[in-house]
Amino acid sequence: MQRIILDTDPGVDDALAIALALNSSGLKVEAITTVNGNVGVDYCTRNLSLILSAMGNVSVPIVAEGESQPLSVSIVNASHVHGSDGLGGVTQLRDANGNQCYLDMLLPSVTTGAVDVVLELVTRYPGQVVLLCIGPLTNIAKAVLKCPIGMKKTKGIVLMGGAFEVYGNVTLSAEFNVYADPHAAQIVFDSGIPITIVPLDVTHQVLLNAREFEKLCVRHGGQWGKFLSDCTKVCFEFHRYHEGLDGFYLHDPVAVGYLEYPGFFDTVPAYVQVEINDGLTRGRTVADLRADRIDGPEPNAQVCVGINTSQFLDYFLDCIFASA
Ligand code: BDR
Ligand code: CA
Repeated sequence: MQRIILDTDPGVDDALAIALALNSSGLKVEAITTVNGNVGVDYCTRNLSLILSAMGNVSVPIVAEGESQPLSVSIVNASHVHGSDGLGGVTQLRDANGNQCYLDMLLPSVTTGAVDVVLELVTRYPGQVVLLCIGPLTNIAKAVLKCPIGMKKTKGIVLMGGAFEVYGNVTLSAEFNVYADPHAAQIVFDSGIPITIVPLDVTHQVLLNAREFEKLCVRHGGQWGKFLSDCTKVCFEFHRYHEGLDGFYLHDPVAVGYLEYPGFFDTVPAYVQVEINDGLTRGRTVADLRADRIDGPEPNAQVCVGINTSQFLDYFLDCIFASA
C-alpha cells in the first residue's frame, strides 16, 4: 500500500477527498495535516475532526495542525464557495431538540506542527511517502525551507493546483491553491522532489452532478449520507447561481484518484513556474505543455492534462459511499 500524508484545508471537496483517500484500498494514510486555505487553519482542523466523526469515528495515526498564514501574501479564503465554516454550514445545523447535528469527535493526537510531522515521517520512511496536497502549499514549502535534504527523502508530491490552458477559478489567471500562496508553490516546484500536478485543466473535466449525488446520499442514508448531503448543498448552490452548473468540480478527489489509479490520466512532463508578483496574473502556473517541444529547461513536474472521467466517477462513487 502507498503511504501518504494528506495535506488539506477542509473545505467541501477536501471532505470528499479525505473520505476517498481513507476508503481507497491502495492508500495508507499515515497523517493528515491541515493548512490555512478555504478557511482559517483552526476551522480546517475542526472540520477535519467533524469529517472523521461523520465517517463513523475513523481514526488516523497522526493529525497535525499546520500553518495559519501564507509565506508572503495576505490571507485569502474561499468561504463564499464552501460556506462561512468551510463545510457548507453543517456546524450550525441543529436537530429538532436544538442539539448540534454534527458533534466533532475529539482528536486526542492533534499536534501543532505539521511541518515537523511531515519531516519526521519522510525521514522515518525514506523513499516511501507521497505527499498528497490539496490546499495551499505553505506547510510543504516550510518543510523544504527547514530541511531541503530531509525532504529529498519524499517519494513524491501529488498536488491539486494550477491552471495552464484554462481560466483560473479565483481570478482569470489563477487557481485558488496556488493563488493563495504563490511563493510556497514556487518553492515546492523548485524543490527537486518528483511532482505531479493535477490542475483545473483536468478537474474541470469532472463534474459531480447535484441531483444524482443527492439521490445517492438519500439512498445511502445514515449519518454519512446525511452529512454528505448537508455539507455539499452550499457548494452546489454557489455553482448553480454563479456558473450555471448542475454540480461542482471534484478538484481534490481527482488528485486522490491520480494516486490510486494513475492509468486514468494523461500526463506531460513540463517545466512549471509560478507568477509570484502581485497583479493580474498572480498565481498563474506557466509551462509549455506541447508534446512536440524539443528544447527548453528540464521538466520539474508531470502535469495531468487528460482524465477518463467515467472511470474516475465510478471509483469515486463506489469509495465515497463505502463509509457507514
Ligand atoms: C481548490 O481550491 C479549493 O477551494 C478547493 O478545496 C481545491 O483544493 C480548487 O481550486
Ligand atoms: Ca482544498
